Amino acid sequence: MFSRVACLGRPSWAILCLLSSSAVLGSVLQNGDDRPLAEKELIFGPENQNVLQIIPVDPKPPSSNPAYPKPLGMSPAAVTSALQDLHSALSVMQSTYFSLWLGKWTTAIDWTAAVLGTHLSSTLSSLSHSLSYTLPGTFDKTVKLDVEAQMVENEINKYFAQSIAYFFGEDAFAIRMEAYDDMLWVVLGWLESMNFINSHSERHYPLTEGIIREESEWHGKQFIPAFAHRARVFYELAEQGWDWELCSGGMLWSPHTLPYKNAITNQLFISAAVSMYLYFPGDDNCSPFMSDQESGVRANFKMGKQDMDECDERMKGKSTYDPIYLASAINGYKWLKNSGMMNEKGLYVDGFHIHDYGKNGTIGTGKCDERNEMVYTYNQGVILSGLRGLWEATGNLTYLEDGHELIRNVIRATGWTDTDTPTIFLTESQHQHDTTKRPSVSNHQAHDQTWSGLGSSGILTELCDPYGTCSQNGQTFKGIFFHHLTNFCTPLPTSATTPGKTFAASKDTATLHQRSCNEYAPWVIHNARSALRTRDEKGRFGMWWGTGLASHGHDFESDTPPAGRLPNRNDPLRPSLPEDATDHQNPVPSSISRCGRFPSDREGQEQPCTTGDLNDRGRGRTVETQGGGVAVVRAMWEFLRHFNKG
Ligand SMILES: *[C@@H]1O[C@H](CO)[C@@H](O)[C@H](O)[C@H]1NC(C)=O
Ligand SMILES: *[C@@H]1O[C@H](CO)[C@@H](O)[C@H](O)[C@H]1NC(C)=O
Repeated sequence: MFSRVACLGRPSWAILCLLSSSAVLGSVLQNGDDRPLAEKELIFGPENQNVLQIIPVDPKPPSSNPAYPKPLGMSPAAVTSALQDLHSALSVMQSTYFSLWLGKWTTAIDWTAAVLGTHLSSTLSSLSHSLSYTLPGTFDKTVKLDVEAQMVENEINKYFAQSIAYFFGEDAFAIRMEAYDDMLWVVLGWLESMNFINSHSERHYPLTEGIIREESEWHGKQFIPAFAHRARVFYELAEQGWDWELCSGGMLWSPHTLPYKNAITNQLFISAAVSMYLYFPGDDNCSPFMSDQESGVRANFKMGKQDMDECDERMKGKSTYDPIYLASAINGYKWLKNSGMMNEKGLYVDGFHIHDYGKNGTIGTGKCDERNEMVYTYNQGVILSGLRGLWEATGNLTYLEDGHELIRNVIRATGWTDTDTPTIFLTESQHQHDTTKRPSVSNHQAHDQTWSGLGSSGILTELCDPYGTCSQNGQTFKGIFFHHLTNFCTPLPTSATTPGKTFAASKDTATLHQRSCNEYAPWVIHNARSALRTRDEKGRFGMWWGTGLASHGHDFESDTPPAGRLPNRNDPLRPSLPEDATDHQNPVPSSISRCGRFPSDREGQEQPCTTGDLNDRGRGRTVETQGGGVAVVRAMWEFLRHFNKG
């Protein structure tokens, strides 16, 4: 396994191997270890054990069915190995696909790169958090672990430097001319980075008395104004996509196509707006370019006094907790919720066209009345960050309830049967949930192996996955879902971050939220472990996490894992497009085969048939599939980390 090789081969991994063994072999060390007592207490003291106290909830014997991963068991070993896998996934993503001298993931396109940057920053947040309970006394020179803490710190700095390189490698000029969703990925990416910088600095570089702020805080802080500027510029470009004329509101996908009001652009807008409200620190930088489209790029480099004054005027009062951002998010969600964009399974379909638009120079019906029934994983994900942010900004529990309901619908649509629990209600009047109930875990045998809308056998799956025809876009989707799911399930604050501006959860609400997230944890881990099984000898993740799992138990061609099995041509369980769905980007051929076709960039061309790994079909392993691996493994680590808090 790759992680083990890495563990032996890379000095910077020593800490992880050490942690792994200290967790697993804790009792052995306590008995047979001759280090000074004080040191042992530091390592195994109760304040360092939070992560190790995760309840082993799965006492059942391992499944005898080799097609399924071993039962989950949230053991200490599972936690440390998840952290190790996260380091590994990130390391492969950066060493294989990132070109430092260009400041780019060279094979990514603009929007997928923005998503990769987001995964990079959020993973750094996770690694930064992993330090606090495993490496206390980071700056206490008498503690032996100090050395390892510095190694992890060095690792974080290495990747942070790469994300700075990407800040300059990002093609900001090109993205200005792209679609509104492209711009909004950029906004979310740099907000994520700022959140990482702030939390890392607060956590590990506390202000020290007698030392001026700039000298005691983490050096990453110096980039906040630059990142804030990038986020604001792209937010302001994107918000021009809001349109009242058609469908009584909603964001347009792109200024360059016939009007299409789709789930992703609207969800991005909601999440970006509420994140600007909560996290944007303000920006007084009127250069290098202004963000209103009329002045255009040309004005950027020649700003007269009038331009500067206008810019100053526009910037007034735009800072954290600017009510305009919040109002946009609330309004955006109200529109989305009433838009009819959810199907009968409670999943967001892709979006709406307007009937007869452009006919005879008219706007046609002017209504969102031609629905594309296509269901993608990412359309169920991005809104989750928005809903959590909306709750924190308003205290309105409906947002959290909507989020939990959506998550349950997604999990159910993967054929996972453990979450057929009633929808939880957080509001007083609807308080029906039994708070004493333990989260249900395991029982993998029960998962539905038929295509359930977003997967089978409990594995989140893009429709194009089994066919091996996912485009570069499609390859990015599942990771996006898991990124936003992880955000949503971060424990709720029980005291307000900024009293008067943000809301705190009551103890009951915080507990209920956490218990629900605990219920999702086994599903998340099931997905992460399935994804981990797709890694090749170089540690690169594949696209279809269900290889070898999805089709078990039916009449399929058989193969030895990890090659997986394929449904027969006429199998009724074969995933198929919903009626009235169009998927131009990820063509779905009439049957699943070992040959498949190349996706859109080389559409129609047959490719050589593979005899082995199904994840070699189509685009094969890419930086996008790696980003998906990073995101789902990070989700596993975060869900495990918070598991015992319910
Ligand atoms: C478009 O215009 C033509 C000519 O003016 C007219 O005959 C036709 O009915 C119009 N169609 C619609 C859909 O309005
Ligand atoms: C809470 O949010 C929901 C929206 O989704 C809205 O319908 C409801 O009116 C809000 N409640 C309050 C008290 O603002």
